[in-house]
Amino acid sequence: MYRSHTCGELRLADNQKEVTLSGWVQTIRKFGSISFVDLRDRYGITQLLFSENHHPQLEANPLGREFVLQVKGIVNERSNKNPQLPTGDIEIAVSSFSILNKSAVPPFTIQDDTDGGDDLRMKYRYLDLRRNAVKKNLEIRYSVNRSARNYLHENNFMDIETPFLIKSTPEGARDFVVPSRMNAGQFYALPQSPQTFKQLLMVSGYDRYYQIVKCFRDEDLRADRQPEFTQIDCEMSFVEQEDILQMFEGLVKRIFKDVKNIDYTEIVQRMTWEEAMWNYGNDKPDIRFNMQVCNLKFPAHTFPTKESLSALIEGVAFPVFDNAETVVAIAVPGCSEYSRKQTDELTEWVKRPQIGMKGLAFIKCNADGSFKSSMDKFYSEEKLKAMAAAAGAKPGDLVLLLAGAEERTRKAISDLRLYLAQTLGLRKNDEFKLLWVIDFPLFEYDEEGNRWVARHHPFTSPKPDQIATMINNNPAIENAAEYLKHPYASIKANAYDMVLNGNEIGGGSIRIFQRELQEKMFAALGMDAEEQQHKFGFLLGAFEYGAPPHGGIAFGFDRLCALLGGSEGIRDFIAFPKNNSGRDVMLDAPSTIDDKQFEELQIKLNLK
Ligand code: AMO
Repeated sequence: MYRSHTCGELRLADNQKEVTLSGWVQTIRKFGSISFVDLRDRYGITQLLFSENHHPQLEANPLGREFVLQVKGIVNERSNKNPQLPTGDIEIAVSSFSILNKSAVPPFTIQDDTDGGDDLRMKYRYLDLRRNAVKKNLEIRYSVNRSARNYLHENNFMDIETPFLIKSTPEGARDFVVPSRMNAGQFYALPQSPQTFKQLLMVSGYDRYYQIVKCFRDEDLRADRQPEFTQIDCEMSFVEQEDILQMFEGLVKRIFKDVKNIDYTEIVQRMTWEEAMWNYGNDKPDIRFNMQVCNLKFPAHTFPTKESLSALIEGVAFPVFDNAETVVAIAVPGCSEYSRKQTDELTEWVKRPQIGMKGLAFIKCNADGSFKSSMDKFYSEEKLKAMAAAAGAKPGDLVLLLAGAEERTRKAISDLRLYLAQTLGLRKNDEFKLLWVIDFPLFEYDEEGNRWVARHHPFTSPKPDQIATMINNNPAIENAAEYLKHPYASIKANAYDMVLNGNEIGGGSIRIFQRELQEKMFAALGMDAEEQQHKFGFLLGAFEYGAPPHGGIAFGFDRLCALLGGSEGIRDFIAFPKNNSGRDVMLDAPSTIDDKQFEELQIKLNLK
């Protein structure tokens, strides 16, 4: 028997018990002829006391960090208790021990605050995973997994696996491809998601499907993106959007309860995509704090239902605003006393290429009711006051204004809002705010190809009253600069995203389920009949055999776990992740393959 207890288990109630423990040596402290060793396993740390008797044996076989050790001994009350450790009241007086395996000196310390940089940690990920900090993340991941499975099982969902070696699924990224030896010159694609399979399962009558499944996307990586990641992928038949929203906010609330013991009783707010863009400049707003965008000027066709406030800024010949398509502002609470240095720093921040603004204007709303502004030369105090009021500023606030082209400026104000909220400590890791963003545009403009692409994916249904707009208008975009004026730009989809604290944690839609409409959708995306048949003949075929109305959603499992663990980066919530260049530095993958493999595949490399 290797162990009678784990290293996290023994308490004062076990005093005088004879026990056997196995684990890794965390630390060794010598005091003359006695030694204290902290023994660690997945469950915790227990202190061992080696007495003088073991001295000769330890001299002959010195212990080292991360050695695998088995000890037998008696549980004793500690004279010097450690209240930080659950096992801190006891120690084991070792009677005998054996070294089960030695360890080389680890390249970094296996501690919460490790001295290993990211690359080193990834290279020796199996050691990094021994650290408490990473272990906790994997525990969260496992609890989310269990909680989701329980909820979905209780609601009649069936876990059905779908293949990995498939044909391209369009989710907006590049495919990873796998050459076929048996079909030389032909390639499988790895699924960007099981989208078409889950729809086929609906046609087959499995009306509630789920899968916690790997997806593969060759896209630029960020902290919240990995080339292979995991989705909680779901689909339901005979449902409308409302049924889906209810079912899946239920899922997330259940996960909150099971994993964080949070009773999320408040109603999950819903916001149309248009309102999100208008009020936050962003389709995944963080609603833990306010600081909403004030739209002082905007191109009329982008928000046709909104009233213009441009009178507030016009008539003073201020070229920065007069020449801009869009002028937006936010009121930053309590920052009217920002120094020149601080406003200069913010200006530099918005001028960085990632943000791309030419400058930043401000109005300080002083506590005494006066106003001081970078635009004092152009605007009277009266006008500044009116602008500040429109931005919702109170005395003591700082109003920041950006001007420029519509899309860039809106994104910039959104980024600035998040940056300031972060600086002011308004983005708290332990506060959770869910939001549904609904009524997304059906199409997105692809600048490179000067054409329309599906904003979610091509299987998403348009709002029923806008199908005619899609069918009756020519998709061709004559004036690229004014694509937003094309009728397609305003068509909305039956699509929704779930947003948690400003992060998109899930997205889905009600699907097209009639062949004819699906064909029209493909045609709107520029696919002729031949291409449609080649790429999606199987789905169009299936739609001829009684496809039920259906819809679904997929959650970013890694993202959800990371946010519950208080992080926006997903890497440390994945046991063996890739680095930012998509490499597994531990395996050194991707790598070249043998000549023999190339021969079998009948492939010759021709690197440019
Ligand atoms: P979508 O493409 O929106 O929808 O993906 C669903 C969710 O998956 C997460 N996600 C990612 N997480 C980590 N790394 C990535 N590279 C990555 N890409 C996406 C996000 C996202 O919200 N088939 C549709 C779903 C449906 O319509 O039912 C789909 O895949 O959290």
